[in-house]
Amino acid sequence: MRVVSGIQPTGNLHLGNYLGAIMRWVKMQDEAECLFFLADLHAITVYNDPAELAAHIREMAAVLVACGIDPDRSIMFNQARVPAHPELAWLLNGTARIGWMNRMTQFKEKSGKNREGASVGLFAYPVLMAADVLLYQATHVPVGEDQKQHLELARDIATKFNTDYDVELFTLPEPLIGKTAARIMSLRDGSAKMSKSDPSDMSRINLTDDIDLVAQKVRKAKTDAEPLPDNMPALAGRAEAKNLVGIYATLAGEAPDAVLGRFAGQGFGAFKPALADLLVETLRPIKARLDALRADPGEIDRVLARGAERAAALAAPTLEGAYKALGLPRGG
Ligand code: TYM
Repeated sequence: MRVVSGIQPTGNLHLGNYLGAIMRWVKMQDEAECLFFLADLHAITVYNDPAELAAHIREMAAVLVACGIDPDRSIMFNQARVPAHPELAWLLNGTARIGWMNRMTQFKEKSGKNREGASVGLFAYPVLMAADVLLYQATHVPVGEDQKQHLELARDIATKFNTDYDVELFTLPEPLIGKTAARIMSLRDGSAKMSKSDPSDMSRINLTDDIDLVAQKVRKAKTDAEPLPDNMPALAGRAEAKNLVGIYATLAGEAPDAVLGRFAGQGFGAFKPALADLLVETLRPIKARLDALRADPGEIDRVLARGAERAAALAAPTLEGAYKALGLPRGG
């Protein structure tokens, strides 16, 4: 079992990233050989201020360590330090079909009405993502629901490459999507996912928010006036309520029905403070570790450089195999 996953280093990590991905990455370290990376080459598919991007890469690396990623056990790095990623992505561009790419819902969402004005990188982005996992022969890729389509594409690219060039080079990666936190929704609108691109900061909880702000965001989260039922199916049509119960259950490591069992008959006046407490309990130690890590940015750079060296060594045979399969001579 080899686990590979990435996250874009654009500003803050929010609760959707944490519950949908990072918290599960931390657990997987006990079960498998893991590679986790900052997808900085994905981040440049939209304009980022270069100084801010550099700062975000370090900050996000520190956040991952603060959340429990252990850079001795897992290989942690930023993509830009491992050129095998964009190299393999280019080789796979010959295999990926424009028709497949045109179906990617995230590109449609992100480019919006201005498709002609979107960068080529934003369109080609899922090919780089395929390279990210295929390079390491990833067997499992823990992600939120929104990345599932990209991983299906990675499987299609791998299958077509293996078939066209008659090789058994790439392993087909399996997406691992959590049961309770596959799609954490905005605190202001239960039909939109929690996202760092939402203009309202009140729509999300950032891992670096002050404790008071976390409590305030939970208090102001949109809900309804009905009491909570004792089972999840009875929450049908109450997207905001369902979202908050899902967040609680994931944080507490409990089944949503077990949570509802305790709060059945009560309203949000009782549920919200309990949720805020649970959030604060989770975030407080992460923030404390983060403060200590921020004090030593040199150490974060060393961690990323060492991770990149280990990643490059693992990637080399697959990259070689791809050049060879394509008939491209290399070296002296
Ligand atoms: P990114 O940076 O948008 O998000 C990182 C991870 O957080 C998950 N996530 C969520 N999960 C539940 N609810 C939400 N509201 C929510 N928002 C985000 C995402 O599904 C993701 O798992 N393309 C990827 C980064 C990437 C990658 C990869 C991932 C690049 N290469 C290879 C896996 C394998 C992205 O932009 O994630």
